[in-house]
Amino acid sequence: MSNADPGGRSPKAPTTFADLWRELESIGRDQLTGGYRRYSWTPADTACRTWFTRQAAKRDLAVETDHNGNLWAWWGPRGPGAVVTGSHLDSVPDGGGFDGALGVAAALAAVDLLNEKAFYPERPVVLAVFTEEEGARFGVSCLGSRLLAGAVQPDAARALTDDQGVTLAEAMRAAGHDPARIGPDERRLEGISALVELHVEQGRALAPLDAAVGVAEGIWPHGRWRLDFTGRADHAGTAQLADRRDPMLAYASTVLAARQAATAHRALATFGKVIAEPNGTNAVPSAVRAWLDARAPDEAVLETTVTTIRSAAEKSAREQGVTLSVRQESYTPLVRFDEKLRDRIRGVLAAAGMTSPVLPTGAGHDAGILAARVPAAMLFVRNPTGISHSPAEHADLADCEAGVRALAAVLEDLAGPA
Ligand code: GLV
Ligand code: MN
Ligand code: MN
Repeated sequence: MSNADPGGRSPKAPTTFADLWRELESIGRDQLTGGYRRYSWTPADTACRTWFTRQAAKRDLAVETDHNGNLWAWWGPRGPGAVVTGSHLDSVPDGGGFDGALGVAAALAAVDLLNEKAFYPERPVVLAVFTEEEGARFGVSCLGSRLLAGAVQPDAARALTDDQGVTLAEAMRAAGHDPARIGPDERRLEGISALVELHVEQGRALAPLDAAVGVAEGIWPHGRWRLDFTGRADHAGTAQLADRRDPMLAYASTVLAARQAATAHRALATFGKVIAEPNGTNAVPSAVRAWLDARAPDEAVLETTVTTIRSAAEKSAREQGVTLSVRQESYTPLVRFDEKLRDRIRGVLAAAGMTSPVLPTGAGHDAGILAARVPAAMLFVRNPTGISHSPAEHADLADCEAGVRALAAVLEDLAGPA
């Protein structure tokens, strides 16, 4: 039942940010580690989608799922010039609770704040939840926004597999979504006048500046490369060291080389995911599959860093008598967020008495992908330790609430009278 007033306004704020947060907190959380495992198109993902849809319905927002599995909840008049806010609800393995989820909960809470003020948007305000932002299940980060923007081919996306060999197409179908229709959505993009994603800060720049909220300047170029080292399985107790073709050795020296290259080039390089096959304690592995995540302040430095790591991997593969294949799985060029939109947002925040330092970041975001197509900006909420992609990720409630107030002020400005 709708409790919107006859003028079409949404109902009064049904919950506080803290209430919203409490509800969302338990979904997809691992009891043992305290980290989140909200992988796309799994039951935890469905539970997140159900939660969001229910919250949107409570506010009389009309929710739709686009062809790519992204959710859009509409507030105000339908039509062009939509002001989009939101983020993602999926997580990395044992991720923190704030990465993505804070932007979604803050968007709902901002609508509540604006409703309390009896604000009604003149342009649509749309709350978006992008799918598979982390690429934790299918390997390509920001998959939902990349598909929307035409930055990844639908056929290639459908064929992506998870670690169990399930394709994206199969996973979507199993969750009741038709994978045949994924792909670019020009009309949706044309209808967007601005995108503002609020996100927990990843890094620790705001704490020393004594600021609860910052705005994004840009995103470092970054990418993912899969390295397959293939050797020969053998007996750990009988195969002589000199006779072995051990892919683990080639991999191990590549990890060290990556650290050295990153240090030398002032870049970042991480091997955070590795699969040894067949993964037996008493056997030389037959293969090691490893994923390199590399990021740098500019594209030339990123390329040099990755080339250096790749050469080191080739050299150690030769030395160990194993073969190596390297494949780039995703790449995001340097992102510069829209300066005009950023200045406008900073003006709004200043008028609300908030200082908003401008920060670069090495973390990828859907707003970064969509910045190539629509005016985009980001708000960061202070992270006192800077830790992210970890159960230790944190933001204080007071800072989250400051983020909600900041987002509400920005939406009021962007979707209010021209
Ligand atoms: C997303 O969080 C990324 O930067 O990997
Ligand atoms: Mn993340
Ligand atoms: Mn995120």
